[in-house]
Amino acid sequence: MKGIILHGGHGTRLRPLTHTGPKQLLPIANKPMSEYCVEAIKDCGITEIAIIIGGIGSKKVKEYYGDGSKFNLKISYIEQDEPKGIAHAINLCKDFVENEKFLVFLGDNIIQKSISDISKKFENDDDDALVLLCEVPNPERFGIADVKDNKIIKIMEKPKNPPTNLAVTGIYFLTTKIFDIFTRLKPSWRNELEITDALQMMLEENCIVNFEMITDYWKDTGTPNDILHANGEVLKNMQPYFHGVKNENVELVGNTMIGMNSKIHSTSKILGPCIIGKNCVIGKNCVLGPNVSLGDNSKLTNCSIQNSIIMENCTIDSNIKIKDSILASNSSITLDNNNNEKVLLLGEGTKISL
Ligand code: G1P
Repeated sequence: MKGIILHGGHGTRLRPLTHTGPKQLLPIANKPMSEYCVEAIKDCGITEIAIIIGGIGSKKVKEYYGDGSKFNLKISYIEQDEPKGIAHAINLCKDFVENEKFLVFLGDNIIQKSISDISKKFENDDDDALVLLCEVPNPERFGIADVKDNKIIKIMEKPKNPPTNLAVTGIYFLTTKIFDIFTRLKPSWRNELEITDALQMMLEENCIVNFEMITDYWKDTGTPNDILHANGEVLKNMQPYFHGVKNENVELVGNTMIGMNSKIHSTSKILGPCIIGKNCVIGKNCVLGPNVSLGDNSKLTNCSIQNSIIMENCTIDSNIKIKDSILASNSSITLDNNNNEKVLLLGEGTKISL
């Protein structure tokens, strides 16, 4: 089997964070979110992955994943010149796929549980396609499957009146049959070639479109809150470690992951789940966590941070309480004469003095 990751798009709902790079490279627990897709695909025993790039920051994607050797994978890149839809992107991979079955992951979809058993089943069965469904509270935001007697009877894209709450997640097991369908696919109302329309055509042409349920965690990280939610979930499931500079007096509560060479002052507290990257300095009077990711080389003093992502090379030296916020790399917040809680969403390189 081969793997495909969709890594394009403009990430408009995540601006300003996506002005300088693709949303799929935004960190969740200090790792680009698309790396979780790479790991999930690798966990299925797949060794060859094509990453579809296009739009903002494609160069950064190539720089990060390279030829895949640092992940023990073979990674190649396919350019999608315009965002013409998921089906259009997959169709660009026809030569890459050759005659194999393949697994497609949208690079902004996060799951927590291995799908390697499902992958093995798909490799051995005769299904023409297999989708992963997940119950959601807001089905009108997703592709939806109508299921009767344990069979999918219809798949539709973002229906106004969804017949079920079963979202078609952005994880698709496919066979080369889909390429024939693509030749007959028409653009949707949003002028995209929809994978859901292609799957519906498969059903109409009596192909076998099977499904498995995700009963564990699944998130399509379209908004800052989705990203923070996924961050909390990933942190909760991490194994704790301490690679920092030892200080017996520091209070570490719950699941904490402290990176190489990071220092924490005795007057500060880390409330798990919380990850601190490499070479960070947590100075006096800080309370970090729960649900906080702090990137490498960041320096904090006199602040309290909850449910937030602070990326690398950030400086916060201010008597400030931050929650539900995302600060991009190289941001700084200084001065400390205001005690109100503040909700922030800051682009790369932003500097605020409060
Ligand atoms: C896309 C698909 C949709 C699917 C969703 C999952 O939606 O079109 O069927 O449910 O991904 O993440 P989009 O993110 O383009 O709105």
